[in-house]
This record gives sequence, C-alpha cells and structure tokens, in this order.
Amino acid sequence: MIKGKRVGIVGAGNVGSTVAYSLAMLGSCHEIILRDNKIEIARGKALDMSQAAAAVRSHTVVGVAETMAEMTDCDVVVVTAGSPRLPGMSRDDLLMINAKVTRDVIEGIAKYSPNAIVIMVSNPLDAMTYVALKESGFDRSRVIGMAGVLDSSRMAAFIQEKLGYGGGQIRASVMGGHGDDMVPLPRYSTVAGVPLSDVLTTDEIDEIVQRTRKGGAEIVALLQTGSAYYAPAKSTAIMVEAILKDTKQIHPCAVYLEGEYGFSDVVSGVPVMLGANGAEKIIEVTLDDNEKAMFAKSCASVQSLIDTLHTNHFFEGVQS
Ligand code: LAC
Repeated sequence: MIKGKRVGIVGAGNVGSTVAYSLAMLGSCHEIILRDNKIEIARGKALDMSQAAAAVRSHTVVGVAETMAEMTDCDVVVVTAGSPRLPGMSRDDLLMINAKVTRDVIEGIAKYSPNAIVIMVSNPLDAMTYVALKESGFDRSRVIGMAGVLDSSRMAAFIQEKLGYGGGQIRASVMGGHGDDMVPLPRYSTVAGVPLSDVLTTDEIDEIVQRTRKGGAEIVALLQTGSAYYAPAKSTAIMVEAILKDTKQIHPCAVYLEGEYGFSDVVSGVPVMLGANGAEKIIEVTLDDNEKAMFAKSCASVQSLIDTLHTNHFFEGVQS
C-alpha cells in the first residue's frame, strides 16, 4: 500500500462520520480509516463515503479498522468515541464513562499510531483531552482538543443572526473550557475588523455571549436524540486540515497549560498555532481583569473534573 497522509477516526457516529465526509470531499488526505464497535455500520458508511469521494473526483479512500491494531501509522487520529450527551445530561455526567473509553482508545493509538497527532472531540472535552494526554505520554503539542473552533463559529453565527448582515466577515473569539463557563470574548470579536461594540448594544452582545455558552445545549434540546454534529465535525476537519497542510494558522484549541495564562496541569481553550507538529505554539492574549476572572472560573471547572478523576483513582498507575 502506498503511504499517503492517513487520518484515523475513532467513533463513526454522527460527528466522526461527518468529519470523515468533510475530509473526503476536500481530498484532504489519501486515506481515512473509521473505527467503530458497530463494524457493519462503519463499513457501510466507509463505502458510501468512498463512493461520494469518487463522485467529486476526490482521491481520498475511506476504509475501516476492525480493531485499533488495524489503525496503524496515522498522521492524525480524531477521537469522537464515547457516550453522547443526551437531553438533561450535562457534559460532566459523561466524565467517568468517557474517561474509560478514552483510556482504551488512547492505548491503541499510542501503540499502533505512535507518531500521530491526536484531536480529542469526546465530552467533557477538556477533561478528555487531559486524560488522553496523560494516558498517551505524548508531548502536549500532539494532544489537542476541539472546542474553540466550534464555540467561536457558534458565536459568529449568533452575531450574524443578530446583525442581519456581515456573514462570512465575522471573527468571533472564545477561550476557556468547552462548558457553561466558556469565555466568549466580544472585545476580540469583529465584523470585517469593526468592533462589535460599534454595531451592537451591550445588551445584544450579552445575549450573544449567553447564547454561545449554551450553544450545544440549544441543539441538544431541539434534536432530542443526540447532540450537534455538523459544526463540531467541520470544526474538527478544519483542525485536521491545518495540521496535514502545515498551515501554521491560529485556531482556538484545548491544550495542556504549563504556566500559560498563569495555569498549569489543566487543559483549557486558548489560541494555538497549528502545523505539522500539532499545537506548535500557544499564543497568550492580553486579557482584562474581567476576562481573566472568567478564564480562571472556566479553568476551575475543568480542574474540578480532573479532581473527580483523581478522587476516583482514575490515574493510578499512569506515568505523568
Ligand atoms: C456541543 C456538544 C457536542 O457543544 O458539546 O454541541
């Protein structure tokens, strides 16, 4: 088999398969390998997507790994495996269930794709990124959580809806964890460079901030049977593309902090430069006192999840 760029996707549910579809349509890589416990479904989706790729004359082929042992030598592995967030369930409820799933998956990635860059998508996102980092033993630049791209896109869509114009020209910025304490930053959000405060009232901006924080839950309540996947998947595909193409572009991503923003041994969403080596640089944005306080609150809620994992002896035996 000729080795081109290979992307593994663990979990072929709505998010995982939509990431695969997006990458296949763009021809971002030579090969995509789907892994799911529901193997026949993964096979069916892989066939369907390979055929869609042929329809658009994309060179990408989509295949299936029956076990993690078949997911070898990937350049990037996206992890979406885990229990989905159901109505009434907080992201935090998923903590212990998904931590165990993540552990098993990461063990396979470390063994069979030891040079991969891992993109975590499973919830609770920041805590799962922390688990993946500790379990893999990888450098922190190679374990990155997807959330900031999604949350910023949601904020941009809400700004557009509120304004009624400016679509495609909005840069919204969200930092912090992927939870109710996330930190939307109106001060760093613009419409074609025009500050939000010049086109929206304080109340309107505040409404956008609150809606962004609850953006995932709004969709869960509407879908009833699961959570959002188009925007989460596209946001993930954007990160995969930045890494495969070594674009060195800045995206808000969840990474392990080692003193940045005054925090250590916790994962939070911050602007990072993505390239072939993963999160190659962490950018430290100047925050005002209010923004700093919100970021600290968000880090504290991620920290409490990590503390719960420790209390439940989750990391016993893991070298950190
Ligand atoms: C969301 C869930 C997946 O934000 O966390 O849509």
